Amino acid sequence: MELDRIRNFVIISHIDHGKSTLADRFLELTQTISLKKMTPQFLDMMDLEKERGITIKLQPCRMEYKINNESYILNLIDTPGHIDFSYEVSRSLAAVEGAVLLVDAGKGIQAQTLANLDLAKEQNLVIIPVVNKIDLPQAKIEQATTEIAELLEIDEKEVIKISAKLGTNIDQILSVIVEKIPCPKKENSLKHFRALIFDSRYDSFKGVIAYVRVVDGEIETGQKIELFATRAKGEVRELGYFNPGFLPQKKLCAGEIGYIATGIKEAGKVRVGDTIQISNSEIDALSGYKEPQPMVFVSLYPENPNDFDLLKDGMSKLKLNDPALVFEPEAKESLGRGFRCGFLGNLHIEIVSERLKREFGLDLIISSPSVVFKITDNKNREKFIYSPGDWPESLDIKESKEPWVSLEVMTPTKYMGGILEILNNLGGKYIDTKYFLSQSSSSSSNASDRTILIYEVPLREIIANLYDRIKGATQGYASMNYRVLGFRNADLVKMEILIAGKVEKAFSKIVSSEKVLQEARFLVKKLKEVLPAQQFSVALQASLNGKIIARETMKARRKDVTGALYGGDYSRKRKLLEKQKKGKKELKATGKIKIPPKAFLEVFRG
Ligand code: GTP
Repeated sequence: MELDRIRNFVIISHIDHGKSTLADRFLELTQTISLKKMTPQFLDMMDLEKERGITIKLQPCRMEYKINNESYILNLIDTPGHIDFSYEVSRSLAAVEGAVLLVDAGKGIQAQTLANLDLAKEQNLVIIPVVNKIDLPQAKIEQATTEIAELLEIDEKEVIKISAKLGTNIDQILSVIVEKIPCPKKENSLKHFRALIFDSRYDSFKGVIAYVRVVDGEIETGQKIELFATRAKGEVRELGYFNPGFLPQKKLCAGEIGYIATGIKEAGKVRVGDTIQISNSEIDALSGYKEPQPMVFVSLYPENPNDFDLLKDGMSKLKLNDPALVFEPEAKESLGRGFRCGFLGNLHIEIVSERLKREFGLDLIISSPSVVFKITDNKNREKFIYSPGDWPESLDIKESKEPWVSLEVMTPTKYMGGILEILNNLGGKYIDTKYFLSQSSSSSSNASDRTILIYEVPLREIIANLYDRIKGATQGYASMNYRVLGFRNADLVKMEILIAGKVEKAFSKIVSSEKVLQEARFLVKKLKEVLPAQQFSVALQASLNGKIIARETMKARRKDVTGALYGGDYSRKRKLLEKQKKGKKELKATGKIKIPPKAFLEVFRG
């Protein structure tokens, strides 16, 4: 295919504005997928994505499109919208020349619309503005159109209005893609082969399969290859396009998006952002990606200590197509061997633990999510603390610091009261208020009444489910985005949780000393709700420096052990009751209560 017939693009938007649904219509219109085989959100390939209705992974697909009797190749990459998966978006953007920017007509521009647009602009992509969901009764089509036009400084006529659900005006987008998005640069096809890896996955027969954008030259099956950063060597076992499954071809050329089965078996040797070259060619590496900065840490342990190797294998394989995940082995006396893992946010933690369970059959014990803290001890030694278990005695701490972020919350003005109440309670600092569009637009009937509140707050507060609280207070209309600023001084203490008198380390938490009582009461109450009742009553306590500061009691679950007995054989009944009493006593003495992994997740969800 001639280079001038190729268009590479992504669909970007705030979460749930309809990217995957629009991709479905593209797949239908171009007959990439037959109507018979079509299922909603087709490109969300994981069951988990379909069940939750969210995109977690980027997904490429190649489509053929005919317009004015000319055939074009359209390479689409569908991206996630949730802030925890924005690394998937930034990698996709580096592989394309244009972006369809989708805005839900019912919600208007939201925080991730702006954040993802900024990322696309950094890559100098051509932006195609689209208002979606025009079929909704509550759609404010004209207002959304004005918003996008003002944001991009373009004429309102350029904004395409569609319903991805009903398939209205979809072909307009495809013809604008062909017209406005530039084709890949022609001169590149004559150069030595270079390809940028933007994703990968593992195949036990073909080794690591790299998802690539071929930047220069071409490559064929059987050629020897080398990776720039890791110096790993391999041989092209197979290559081809995404349709969206793997569709083998003879060669891949400059400007194309496709996959290369590298034959490399070691998962860690093929990294996203690395350059693939043909062995022994003297070329420079392509510029890769900014490494993601995991800021939320948890400890993950297999429930069955013998599953450590399975967990290790699972983590390495997940990392292949989730490069934002970082992990290091650690060991804890009560839990055995596990990993300290870094994530981009709470949803990221939930998704990874769920994938480990589904894809590798692993039941896990997960500690409370924590940000990374920086401590200076009395001997002026600096130390990073990734889990509350490593927090030193308070007497040994000279200074403690924690990461802060700049937080932007975008909300319809009518919800300002509720939002301010939440934001003013985060122990942060108010910085600014901005009106979303210039005041000049307020004279027009399409004026937007959106306000952006800017605060600086500890990241700790964000991972305490701020997103859900903000959504809850605004019926889902407010949205947020944040950016890490760096470490700032903090007044923090370690709160411990005792279950049946025994410290349960996984529940320990670092909290601001001002809020410790509030947090302690909340946590013991939550535990009472989520822990399964035992045969004896259980004390749930929170302590600070060894002193109990909150307590709840979980009542015993009475089990009728004599129910199965008929008649009046009293001595047999007594025997059974005695046995039950003895069992309870033994349990009480050891204080061993099995905490189901689900209870951990529920507690951390807040
Ligand atoms: P993430 O990838 O998780 O950010 O979501 P997304 O942007 O891919 O959105 P998705 O396509 O999953 O759609 C979100 C919801 O909006 C689904 O319930 C869709 O059925 C619905 N939806 C998408 N497009 C339209 C539309 O044109 N009209 C209506 N009424 N609903 C739509």
